Order: sequence, then structure tokens, then C-alpha cells
Amino acid sequence: MTNQNAKDPNGVVIFDTTLRDGEQSPGCSMNLEEKLSVASVLDEMGVDVIEAGFPISSVGDFEAVSEIARQTKNAQIAGLARARPADIDRAWEAVRHAPRPRIHTFLSTSPLHMKYKLNMDPEDVYQTVIDSVTHARQYTDNVEWSAEDGTRTDWDFLCRCVEAAIDCGATTINIPDTVGYTVPEEYFELVSMLRNRVPNMDRAIISTHCHNDLGLAVANSLAAVRAGARQIECTINGIGERAGNAAMEEVVMALRTRQDAMPYHTGVNTTYITRASRLVSGITGFTVQPNKAVVGKNAFAHESGIHQDGMLKNAQTYEIMTPESVGLNRSTLVMGKHSGKHAFKQKLEELGYTLADNELNDAFYRFKDLADHKKEIFDDDLIALVDDAVVRHNDHIKFVSLGIHCGSDEPQTADLELEVEGERKTVRNVEGTGPVDATFRAIREIWPHQASLELYQVHAVTGGTDAQAEVTVRLAENDLTVNGQGADYDTLVASARAYVNALNKLMVKRDKVATGATAAGDAVAGAEAV
Ligand code: KIV
Ligand code: ZN
Repeated sequence: MTNQNAKDPNGVVIFDTTLRDGEQSPGCSMNLEEKLSVASVLDEMGVDVIEAGFPISSVGDFEAVSEIARQTKNAQIAGLARARPADIDRAWEAVRHAPRPRIHTFLSTSPLHMKYKLNMDPEDVYQTVIDSVTHARQYTDNVEWSAEDGTRTDWDFLCRCVEAAIDCGATTINIPDTVGYTVPEEYFELVSMLRNRVPNMDRAIISTHCHNDLGLAVANSLAAVRAGARQIECTINGIGERAGNAAMEEVVMALRTRQDAMPYHTGVNTTYITRASRLVSGITGFTVQPNKAVVGKNAFAHESGIHQDGMLKNAQTYEIMTPESVGLNRSTLVMGKHSGKHAFKQKLEELGYTLADNELNDAFYRFKDLADHKKEIFDDDLIALVDDAVVRHNDHIKFVSLGIHCGSDEPQTADLELEVEGERKTVRNVEGTGPVDATFRAIREIWPHQASLELYQVHAVTGGTDAQAEVTVRLAENDLTVNGQGADYDTLVASARAYVNALNKLMVKRDKVATGATAAGDAVAGAEAV
């Protein structure tokens, strides 16, 4: 592994941890297919390193990291490991299939963490840094070492540990702001201090990993880059533990937009940002707040008369970056009910989707149906429809039809037909408090289960009363949490599809637990670990 600084002094490595730090936050879990689709977009968009998971934490995580390592074409694939031989062996086992594998091992160095979390004294921690990096280096020369809670670590001790890690062969040194405590000036000082005081610092890249507890993750990351750090760890939409991590779209667009103030660059193709953001929010059910920088619904909306007038005269009056630069093409009218499959396929390719034949047939059928009911079809409609068609491809339970009686004339009832493992099952006149409740009760009658509904969320894909609804349903059963998605021009059909999708995911997760897939690892991945 060569030193990125030597190759390109102003190049910043983008290390995406959506699939590890992001996925580890409550309610964000993704299944294998979902992780693969996120990894594939990250790879296409030019992310340098994808941290695909924490392989020892569960068999599911191990499988996901291995599969991502096998399928990814360009990005380096990192697997997280605590400072233990078994963790490092497992991480290597998972990432070794990648063309450019990386082991990322970490250990806490702050007084608080050493005393209360690790119950180790500093000399033991120092020796463990040496042992763990040496162990990882047996496998690869691409080793990253992180000083967990680095921003609350004593500077002299931090310098000793960093120097030792580099001496043992670490090529990336990450200084996490694990609890989102630092401020830009202080973090700038910390990175500058390491560059001045650690004698072998020029043999490694300094990396930032900032949490957003005080809303400073992006500002802190950029301050570190100004001080000489050349890797930023970040996540799509800023998801991650607690208040999340530095948002990738924000750091990348800040660097691109303010070249005058920060003359650094990344290899990210920013036109993929909107697609990546939608994919992650769709999968996790974590909607993006409307006023979120770069990817919020309102990030490029100009509502007030004065702003609209300025925009019409010259877009730069109120726009510092174009929507197109983040892949937000003002939703264009696409096709109608007379469009053929060939044009449909081509349009999907323009939107970045290449579907297998069976998925394409499914999506085309749904498109025709939508075109019969909805006057105008926009890009966003197609995106919602295709995401929905692809999501349910491997489902055991399939939605067939739904009839609803609702309104002020009580009771509200649902007639529902599902296909369960190929067999049609129907219930009629299932009552509920409103049509959504009746629909979900009907599903429960056909497929009894104990999972509780944790989230029910509806969002309109476009404007207009004929807009498609995109629904997210979160179900929880014991320690398992899953998100299901559904889209349709009928909100209740979308709701039923989302619920059924969540149930399908729950079945997959249950199977994994039953076969021991998560048991040992999940205990490992608990609070003690990261
Ligand atoms: O926040 C943190 O310190 C981490 C490390 C494991 C890198 O996520
Ligand atoms: Zn973190």
C-alpha cells in the first residue's frame, strides 16, 4: 500500500462506513441483498474504501463482507476488527477475496475507555496496539489502525501509540472523534500535532472519523483535512451511531464547491449522490430531513418570491451548486402508457438501473399499470417503482390483491389475498380502526406473527393527488428489527406491500438466528465492542 499523500498531495481518500458504522445504528440493519446494492453504488460512484462490516460480529456480517469483497470491482474493501487475533483473522477471512483488501483494527486509547471499558492500563494498551497491528500485517500491507476515542486521549500517549502502530506496519492512522466531542480548531491542532511530533508520521495517512453529536462532524473532518489528514470516514446521509457520522455528500460537495478555500479533491462522481442517498434512506427507512444539506428535498427548492425572481435572472444568485451536480435532474416527464419495453429499459439505464430479465418484466408490468392510472409519469415514479419491484424479487409471501371499505361509514374492513409459498390465501371483512389497521390485521390473520409495528411512514413520490405513495414499515421481534418498503399509487396497497416486504425480511433474519448465524457474533458486537 503506497502512501496516498506521496501520490497526490491534495487527494483525499473517501472511506465510506455506511455498511458498518451506519448499519450498526439502531433500526438501520440491512440484509445481504441490500448491502450488496449499496456497495455496488458506492463502488460505481468512486468511493476509495468501503468498510463493508464487522466480520466477527455475526455470520450475516461475515457473509456480507465476503460477498461484497468478491463483487466489488474498484474500491478497497475494509473489515473491522477489535485488537484480538480472532477478530483480525475473521476480518481477513472475509476481505481477502477483494482485489484490494484492508484490515481495520482499533483499540481505545482515552483514559476513560482504558479504565472503564477495557479495564486495561496504558502499557497493556500500548503492547496490544503493537501485537494487533503486527498480527494484521501478516495478512496484508493495507492495515488501518484506529485510536478509539482519540480526541479524548492524552496527546503524549496518542503519539506513542501512533508511532508504534506505524512501526508495526499500519499505513492509515485513524483518529476517531468517537463521541462527537471535538471542535474544528481543536481537531486541527490535534492532527497538526501528530504531524509535527510523530517521527514516522509521513509513512501513513491520517484519517478522520467524526461523529455528529454536536453537529460538527463535517466541519471537524474538513478541519482535519486542512491540517493534513487525507482520509475522511463518512456515511451516506450521515447515518451512524447516535447522531451519526460525517455525511459523505456534505464533505464531498463542500470540497468540490469551495476549491478556493480548500484545494483538495476526491475521486467521487458527485452525480451519484442523490441515487445513493435515496437508496440508503429507502432501505433503512431513515428518511432524510427536508432541509438536510445536499440531499434534503428542499436543498434545491426556491420558495420565496425574491429567491425565485433571482433564480430566474441568474441561478447563481441563490444556488452555490447545481442540482445536476448531485444527480438531481429536475424530475422530468418520462413516458406514457404507449411506451414500449425497449424505451422503458433504456430509460431505466439512464437512471442507473440494469435489471435482470425477470426483474425488468416485473417492473414493466407495474409501469404499464401505473401509466393506466396516473396521468404523468416522472423519473421519481420510475425510481420508486423499480426499487419496489427489485426489493420483492425473492419474497416468500407475495401481495396479490386488497379491497378496502373505509370512510365515515363504519366499520372499516379489508379483504386481502396473499400468495404464501406459492399458495393463495384469502381473508375477508377483517375489521380495524381505519383502513391501514384493517389491512395490517388482515395480513396478521393470514400470516400470524408476534412482531410489533415500530414505524409506519408514508411519503408521496411526486406532487399531485395521483402521486405514488412510498411506505416504510418497521417490524421488531425480540432482538430483530427489519424495514419493509412498498410503493403504489394506492396508499393502502403500498402499505400492504411494505408490511409484507418487512415480514419476508423477518423470515430471512429468523432463519439466520435459528441456524446460529448471528448468535455468537451479535453478543460480540454489543456495547463493549465499538
Ligand atoms: O467511532 C469510532 O471510534 C469507531 C471506530 C471503530 C473507528 O467507529
Ligand atoms: Zn464510529
